[in-house]
Amino acid sequence: MVLYQQARKEFYMKIAIACDHGGYHLKEHIKKYLTEKGIEIVDHGTYSEDSVDYPDFAEKLCHDITSGESGAERGILICGTGIGISIAANKCKGIRAALCADVFSAKMSREHNNANVLCMGERTTGVGLAEMITDTWLETEFAGGRHQRRVDKIMALEK
Ligand code: RB5
Repeated sequence: MVLYQQARKEFYMKIAIACDHGGYHLKEHIKKYLTEKGIEIVDHGTYSEDSVDYPDFAEKLCHDITSGESGAERGILICGTGIGISIAANKCKGIRAALCADVFSAKMSREHNNANVLCMGERTTGVGLAEMITDTWLETEFAGGRHQRRVDKIMALEK
């Protein structure tokens, strides 16, 4: 994570985060973890363990990312498994959400797919691994080139 820490000194970063009740504790953990690194966090809830519907929180965060409302460039979504919230996020225009439970996928989702939303599951991914996935995802840039053509084709599927 050396590159990321160096980059953090040079670049300002604002990240949006949201979850349902199944992802509440991991959301709070990642929020604190990133805040301590100097990253500004826009928290779209949920704010307790009370039962809520994950599509509502996916929609809030995705709207923020695509409208530029808060200025957050990318987002992190967390539910129990990460599955429901990633399915919901990928229904939102302009969103490329990647459900990651390992560091390699986190890296590839940025390098090859230019994912603008990272999804994780609190009930499937421990906090230590979630921190590593988050660091990797935030520090990895899109490779462009042949991958740009493929990402353009993904986005064309929205029409
Ligand atoms: C909520 O119980 C749970 O279904 C949700 O957090 C998520 O895992 C859905 O995919």
